Amino acid sequence: MSILIDGKTTSEKIKSRIAAEVAHLIDNEDKAPHLVAVLVGQDPASEFYVKSKEKACQSVGIISSLYKYSEKITEADLLQVIDFLNNDPDVDGFIVQLPLPSHINVDHVINRISPAKDVDGFHPMNIGKMVLGAETYLPATPAGILMLLEEYKIETEGKNVVVLGRSNIVGTPISILLSRKANPGNATVTLCHSKSANLEEITSKADILIAAIGQPEFVKAHMVKPNAVVIDVGIHRIEDKTNPKGYRITGDVDFAEVSKVASHITPVPGGVGLMTIAALLENTLKAAKKTVYR
Ligand code: GUN
Repeated sequence: MSILIDGKTTSEKIKSRIAAEVAHLIDNEDKAPHLVAVLVGQDPASEFYVKSKEKACQSVGIISSLYKYSEKITEADLLQVIDFLNNDPDVDGFIVQLPLPSHINVDHVINRISPAKDVDGFHPMNIGKMVLGAETYLPATPAGILMLLEEYKIETEGKNVVVLGRSNIVGTPISILLSRKANPGNATVTLCHSKSANLEEITSKADILIAAIGQPEFVKAHMVKPNAVVIDVGIHRIEDKTNPKGYRITGDVDFAEVSKVASHITPVPGGVGLMTIAALLENTLKAAKKTVYR
C-alpha cells in the first residue's frame, strides 16, 4: 500500500505560516492583503472553488471579495471590471475564475490583468518569468504540487517525470518547473497529451507520474511503474450507485488500483486541490508585500 501524500495536513501547515505573516503585515503596515475573485455565470464547480478560496482567505486573515456577474456579461464589460480592479489601490491581487462563457475570449481577459495583480500567474509576462526562472507568481496548482514534493522530500533530480495533459494551467507549467535547474526540478520531463502514441509505455517508465488529463480514473495500475510517485490533479464527480449520495468524487487516477503499486499517492479529495488554494494565498501575500513587482 502506498504512502498517502496528505494535502490537508500540508496545506494547513502552509496556511499557518501565511496566517503568521499576514498578522505581521497587519502589525507593521496596518494593512491586510486583499484578494478579489471574479466569477462569471453559475457553473457549480466554479462556485464551489471560489467559495473554498474565500473561506481559506478568511482562515488566514486575508480580506476576500467576490465580484459576481451573469453569464451574459459582454467581453467589453468584463474588461472594464478588470481595468477597475487593476486601478483599485485597495486590491492587492485578483483572479478571474475559469472557464469563462464561450463568447468571451479568455486570452483577452488574461492579457488585460495587470501582471502585478495576477495572483493566478496566468499572464504571459508571469509565464515568461516562470520559464526564465525569475521571481514571479507561480500558477497555483503547479506551485501546490511543488510544495507537496518538498514536504514529502520526494527527490526529483535525475528522475523521469511524466506529465499527462498540456493545459496552460497545469500540464505545461508543471513540466517546465520540474525541468528547471532548481529544487524541486532537474528532472527529465515527458509531456504527454491527446496525440501521444504508446502512452502506457511512456507512463510505465515514470518515477513520478502527474495526471492532469481531465478524465476520471484514466490512470490504471498497469500504466504505473512499481514504487512510482503518483500525483493526481483531476477532480470529478461520477455516478456511484454503491454510494448513499449516488455519486463519488474521484480524480484522474484509479486510486483503488494504483495505490497498490505506487510508493506515494495523492488522494482526491484531500490532495492537490487543497494545495492549489494554499498556493493562491501565498501569491496573494506576495502581492501585498510587493516582493514580485515593487
Ligand atoms: N479554473 C480551474 N483552476 C483554476 C485556477 O487555478 N484559477 C482560475 N482562475 N480558474 C481556474
